[in-house]
Amino acid sequence: MAKTLFEWDYSDYPGAKRYPHLFKPIEIGNLLVPNRIKYAATEENLNGLDGFITDSGVAYMRERAKGVVGGLCFMQGVYMDEARKGQGYVGQAAAWDDKFIPGLKRIADAIHEQRAVAGFQLMDCGRVGAVEVESGHGPSTLPQRLRIFKPMVEMTNAEVKEMVQQHIDAAKRGIEAGFDVIEAYTPPPIGSLSVKEARAAWGENTIIWINFPETIFWQGKEATKQYTKELLLSDPPGDALILGFTEMGTWGSILNEETEVVFKDGTTAIMDAIEEYGNIPIIP
Ligand SMILES: Cc1cc2nc3c(=O)[nH]c(=O)nc-3n(C[C@H](O)[C@H](O)[C@H](O)COP(=O)(O)O)c2cc1C
Repeated sequence: MAKTLFEWDYSDYPGAKRYPHLFKPIEIGNLLVPNRIKYAATEENLNGLDGFITDSGVAYMRERAKGVVGGLCFMQGVYMDEARKGQGYVGQAAAWDDKFIPGLKRIADAIHEQRAVAGFQLMDCGRVGAVEVESGHGPSTLPQRLRIFKPMVEMTNAEVKEMVQQHIDAAKRGIEAGFDVIEAYTPPPIGSLSVKEARAAWGENTIIWINFPETIFWQGKEATKQYTKELLLSDPPGDALILGFTEMGTWGSILNEETEVVFKDGTTAIMDAIEEYGNIPIIP
């Protein structure tokens, strides 16, 4: 049984008359979200240079939360390493230590005060990070094409493990601060944290919004369907997992007819797998 987070009555909203589906409640995990609107995470550079939340940052998120009228409101992505290699914005919020929890809680509270669902985003900026330090970190030294970005240092296996732990710990801080949804890390083979491991660390009540590793598409339709099936079966009963997509379908990888076919086949394979194996409750 989903718990109602906040009651909303949209009967006087012109938008609800015009777009009734957008204003239909949806059960996600243990929440009954009153509508289908999401305010996506956006850096606003309103935090202290040390990554702490400020009064203006809280005020900004309060206004954003008003706008979703009960839907999902995400705060900007946080960086998670004390060394600041993952920091991509001068005023980006940090979550690499428990000392940031009280500030983060102010954001979650401000969103909840507007009777909206609070979303937290993990965001190590990788190749576009290291704004305040001399070098960025990543799995390879592949640089960003724009010259404003810093040189990359290839991470060791131990550093990759450390980064996985940073994601686990930062998400826990977000949960402790009161956020309802954690996005948006990419599971293997791109990232190194499986949904099963994330679920074990963050608990069954946390809604996990992953970025689907679209490079799987290059392995073909069958492999993509199989991957999606395994992903779905790895997180029963399935109602607290959201599969998100980033840029591949827009400017990322559709470059010509061949890549368009790869993208279409991949998305079709995902939809087929969801049709077949995504019925909730998912029983592995
Ligand atoms: C100023 C600004 C900051 C952003 N910061 C983030 C961020 O922290 N995390 C993220 O995933 N996307 C970030 N984005 C991307 C947005 O969340 C959104 O996906 C993008 O703007 C596309 O949506 P739109 O077409 O509605 O603008 C940012 C976008 C803007 C314009």
